[in-house]
Amino acid sequence: MSQERPIYVTRPYLPPLESFVPMLEEIWENQILTNCGPFHQKFETALREHLGVEHIALFANGTIALVVALQALRITGEVITTPFSFVATAHSLLWNGIKPVFVDIDPETLNLDPERIEVAITPHTTAILPVHCYGTPCDVANIGRIADLYNLRVIYDAAHAFGVRHQGQSLLRHGDLSVLSFHATKIFHTFEGGAIVCPDEKTKQRIDHLKNFGFADEVTVVAPGINGKLNEVSSAFGLLSLEHLHLAQARRQAIDARYRRELAEIPGIRLISIRAGAEHNHPHFPILIGPEYPLSRDALNLEMRAHGIITRRYFYPLISNMPMYRNLPSASPANLPVANEIALKVLCLPIYPELSDADQTRIIGLVRDAGRAGRAEKNGTAQN
Ligand SMILES: Cc1ncc(COP(=O)(O)O)c(C=O)c1O
Repeated sequence: MSQERPIYVTRPYLPPLESFVPMLEEIWENQILTNCGPFHQKFETALREHLGVEHIALFANGTIALVVALQALRITGEVITTPFSFVATAHSLLWNGIKPVFVDIDPETLNLDPERIEVAITPHTTAILPVHCYGTPCDVANIGRIADLYNLRVIYDAAHAFGVRHQGQSLLRHGDLSVLSFHATKIFHTFEGGAIVCPDEKTKQRIDHLKNFGFADEVTVVAPGINGKLNEVSSAFGLLSLEHLHLAQARRQAIDARYRRELAEIPGIRLISIRAGAEHNHPHFPILIGPEYPLSRDALNLEMRAHGIITRRYFYPLISNMPMYRNLPSASPANLPVANEIALKVLCLPIYPELSDADQTRIIGLVRDAGRAGRAEKNGTAQN
């Protein structure tokens, strides 16, 4: 292992501490720490404007927001979803007593393949829960068309899609609801946090009740709600971070562009292309290790770690291969060939605003050199 400090796959963006102190002083002064106080309300308004959406409800984290989104629309029965995601996507269904039905992904976008959705629909299907994986927009037009045809609701897990614009407007305006995560690993975070984006006031009100134990007022409880409120310190932090986001995003974009330029020509490495008409947000930098690359994905992962570069295999293992899901009929690998293949090939490289040029040079060099060394070894073996 290298003696230098490890380079992790991500690092949380933190605005200057001194700019946060006055906000903390204000909280100490007014002594409102939670229960949708002034910072919560200001942050909600600022986010709605920043994202260009109709309504947004803040949450303590993205997972509770997903669980509540399903409750808000009273989803039951079966829901079609992707196996290639963070486990919280499918867990939110189990927490609602809903049966996940896994459908394979598109090999280019790595998102739910709309062509495979229709055959998975049964009389019990009530909704589709797609993920904009790595911030790449799902095929929202075809998903919307299928949902209309079969009278299904659509809840997008948009945990990776903060700020993504698609055909000139926020990607979050598609579907019935979109769910965001503001976890510390995300491009925009509030330490822990999340949100539901919704198009109408009535749904927003139901969501607000659900995230506050079901309270509609001091004495009226209208639903078996939960405690999903974002606290005041996190809300203030989010408000402050929004001001710095454009600089952090510009740096992410530059890092993404350099990876694309310098990794594109390496045999056996495939990159995920940015879709036409989308304004991307660069939350991850996934590469796919194909058979022409001399090392397997796992061998490259270990090689990078040996040099202090902590790459991550997002999303391996597939959700459908986890013990609580693998016995579902739709979880069979034969039903999900693309997702199973991608989960064995994918490796996410470090990307975060403070990643230095020198560190990125080292990361690119390691991917290139590991490939060259492996190739030489392979050729040598072939000649012997
Ligand atoms: C796709 C996806 N969905 C849901 C979540 C859950 O969000 P949270 O960690 O805020 O609960 C995450 C990440 O954390 C995620 O990546």
